[in-house]
Parts: sequence; C-alpha cells; structure tokens
Amino acid sequence: MENQPILATDRLLLRPFTLADASMVQRLAGDYAVAATTLLPYPYPDGLAEIWIASLREGIDRGEIAAFAVTLAGEGGLIGGVRLQIDRGHARGELGFWVARPCWGRGYATEAVRAVIEYGFSVLGLHRVYAMHFSRNPASGRVMEKCGMLHEGRLREHIRRWGVFEDVDVRGVLHDEWRERRTGPAIRECRVS
Ligand SMILES: CC(C)(COP(=O)(O)OP(=O)(O)OC[C@H]1O[C@@H](n2cnc3c(N)ncnc32)[C@H](O)[C@@H]1OP(=O)(O)O)[C@@H](O)C(=O)NCCC(=O)NCCS
Repeated sequence: MENQPILATDRLLLRPFTLADASMVQRLAGDYAVAATTLLPYPYPDGLAEIWIASLREGIDRGEIAAFAVTLAGEGGLIGGVRLQIDRGHARGELGFWVARPCWGRGYATEAVRAVIEYGFSVLGLHRVYAMHFSRNPASGRVMEKCGMLHEGRLREHIRRWGVFEDVDVRGVLHDEWRERRTGPAIRECRVS
C-alpha cells in the first residue's frame, strides 16, 4: 500500500493496516461494544480480518479508500481504525471509525478523525467529508461534532441492524468550513510509508 502515507498526531500514529494487524483487529473490532454501533460482524469470524486487510489494497491503489490503523505513538499498539471511502466524481469522502473499548473516553477518536479529515481535504483535495452514525450512539456524534462536522439530518429507520430498523444521523463538513474553523494542526507530520 505504497500510496498511503503515515500521519502523526500529538499522541497517535495513523499508518496503513498490514496482515500482522489481523488478530488484533479481530479481537478489538470483534468486541460486542464496538460491533453494536457499527456494521461490523459479531462474532467476528476467524480469517475475516485477513481478507478485509488484503481487500484494502485494491481500493487504496484505485484511490477509492484511505484506511488507517490507529496506533499509539511510541509503543505502537493498535487501538482502532479510521476509514475514508472516497467518491472522486463528487470529491467527497465518507468516514467510518472505531476505537478499542479500553481506550474510550481519552480523545483518541477525535484526534484520529481530525487527522483523517485534514488528510482528506489537504492531500486528497476533497470538497466534503461526511459520516453517518446510529442516532442511539451519541459518543460518535460527539466525536464528529468536536471535529467540526455539522448535523445535517436524520435518516429514519435507514439501516436494519440485527433485524431492527434504526435511525441514522448524518454529519458533514465542507472544505472551506474546515479551513475557517480549524484551531491547530490536525496532523503533525505526513510521511510516505
Ligand atoms: C464512538 C467512539 C469511536 C468514540 O471513541 P473515543 O475515543 O471514546 O472518543 P473521544 O474520547 O474522542 O470522544 C468521545 C466523546 O463522546 C462523549 N460521550 C461518550 N459517551 C457519550 C454518551 N453516551 N452521550 C453523549 N456523549 C458521550 C465523550 O464525553 C466525549 O466527548 P467530550 O470530549 O466532549 O467529553 C468509540 O466509542 C467507538 O469506537 N465506539 C464503537 C464503534 C463506533 O460507534 N464507531 C462510530 C461509528 S460511526
């Protein structure tokens, strides 16, 4: 995955996933607490993380996906993931993200998502970054709010999750808004991986 850089923030290093991450992805993203507010499978099947990581390459090479393993700077342990699904035609990207349950509440998601939004605007040249979250998941909405993403609407019973139709909130930020509102550097360093 040569064409995706490493992003350094104050406390995190966002790098491409490698197959060596597979067992941790299965363990951390396979946590019920993470699966319950995403569309990740639960239980997380053996072998799926390897397939998912391998499948990223094609999307990254085609410029349709940016996927970052979120790791702690210094010790390097994997604590989450942030993914940007890119639609070049509309110059927009849809974010998805998760953080391992033991690491919640420390601002890691906000720090990682801010970095990927900045990457989307300044490196990929996107016009808009947006994301959806279950309306019953205020923590995710709060992360997006802290990242300057405005609440744009609620899609009623938009997703069927485990047999239940669920409301979903949409948040987004436009390039110019991001530039006007940003307070400090979201990325300390962006280097080739
Ligand atoms: C949502 C998630 C990414 C947040 O990660 P995190 O690292 O804990 O996020 P942060 O610490 O950066 O910020 C969380 C914010 O939500 C707030 N929050 C947490 N639970 C909340 C709740 N029940 N109601 C309202 N706000 C809540 C926190 O107080 C914090 O805001 P603050 O800084 O103003 O106090 C994490 O809980 C997660 O991975 N959940 C499962 C997967 C998921 O839902 N992903 C998002 C899918 S769109």
